[in-house]
Amino acid sequence: MNAAVQVDDLTKRFGGTPALRGVNLAVAPGEILGLLGPNGAGKTTLVRILSTLDTADSGTARVYGYDLVRDAHQVRALIGLTGQFAAVDKDLSGLDNLEIIGRLLGLSRRDAKVRAAALLERFDLVEAGRKVAGGYSGGMRRRLDLAASLVGRPTVLYLDEPTTGLDPHSRAALWDTVRQMAYDGTTVLLTTQYMDEAEALADRLVLLDGGRITAEGTTAELCARVRGRTMRIRPVDPADLPTVAATLVAAGLTGGTVVADAGQYQVPVNSDEQVTAVVWAIAACGVALAGIDTGTPSLDEAFLRLTQSEASLVAAGSEVSR
Ligand SMILES: Nc1ncnc2c1ncn2[C@@H]1O[C@H](COP(=O)(O)OP(=O)(O)O)[C@@H](O)[C@H]1O
Ligand SMILES: [Mg+2]
Repeated sequence: MNAAVQVDDLTKRFGGTPALRGVNLAVAPGEILGLLGPNGAGKTTLVRILSTLDTADSGTARVYGYDLVRDAHQVRALIGLTGQFAAVDKDLSGLDNLEIIGRLLGLSRRDAKVRAAALLERFDLVEAGRKVAGGYSGGMRRRLDLAASLVGRPTVLYLDEPTTGLDPHSRAALWDTVRQMAYDGTTVLLTTQYMDEAEALADRLVLLDGGRITAEGTTAELCARVRGRTMRIRPVDPADLPTVAATLVAAGLTGGTVVADAGQYQVPVNSDEQVTAVVWAIAACGVALAGIDTGTPSLDEAFLRLTQSEASLVAAGSEVSR
C-alpha cells in the first residue's frame, strides 16, 4: 500500500549544524504518527521540509506518491500545517482570517464564507470570530490556527507541537479535535516533546534525537519499555562508579548509565527479580553505598533509555548519536 508520507534518507544542515542526519519514515493513510523528540531534535526542520517550506540537502520525500520538490504544487493541495507560531493575521478577525485563506485557496467568496463559519463553529469560536485575533487567548489562537490549516480540507495534517504552552483545558480540547480528525480519515503527523501527548494520540511513535531516528514502535510498545523502573545506585565514593557499572554489566544488567553530576549509576529494571539481582550484585562487589533506590524514569531518562536500547541493537562501534 502507498504510504501517505514517505521519507527516505533525508538530510539537512544549517551551516555547520546537522539538523537531519538520514531520516527514514513512513506514515500510513489514516494513521496518527507521533514524532517525539526533545528541543533541537529536528522536528520542525522535518515538518517544514514535508510542507515544502524548506528543502532537504539530500534524500527524498513523497506525499501520496507526489515528490516534495518536483510535485510541490500537488503536495500543497494535500497538506495542512499547524505550527508553533500561528500563520494568523493578528489585526483581522478570526472570521476574516479564515475567509481570506479560503479565497487564497481558490474558493468562491460564498464558499469561503460558509467554510469559515463552519470551522468557527467546530472550534467553538463563533463569538470570538468577530473579534480581532490579536486579542485571543493562547488556546483560542491555537484553535484558530488549527482551523486555518483545515480550510483546504487537508488529507495530511502536520501538527508541530500543537499544545506547547497551552493550559490543560485547551490541551484536552485540542486532543479531542485531533482524534476526531483522525477518526474522519485525516492522516496526522504530530510532533511533541510530551510522552503523555504521544501516548494519548498516536498510533505509532518515532523518536527523533539529534537529527536521527533512535527508536520506533507502537505507542504501547514504547511506553511499556519506558514505564519500567530505574534503580539509582550512589556509592559513598564516586570513584567506585565504574566498579558499580562493571559489576552490573557482568551480572547481565545492561543499559545503565553513569550520571556523574549526581554521583550515581542508573540502570533500568523490568521486574522484581532484576531489582533483587541489582542489590545482590552490588552487595557482593563490596562497594560502600550512600544510597540505592528505585523509581519511575523521568522523561529525560525515558528518552535516554529508548535511545540507548535502540542503539544497542545497532552494531557496536557505530557512531553514537550525540
Ligand atoms: N533556520 C535555522 N538556522 C540555523 N539553525 C537552525 C535553523 N533551524 C533549525 N536549526 C537548528 O537545527 C536543529 C534542529 O532544529 P529544529 O528542527 O527546530 O528542532 P525541534 O523542532 O525538534 O526543536 C537545531 O540544532 C537548530 O538549532
Ligand atoms: Mg520545533
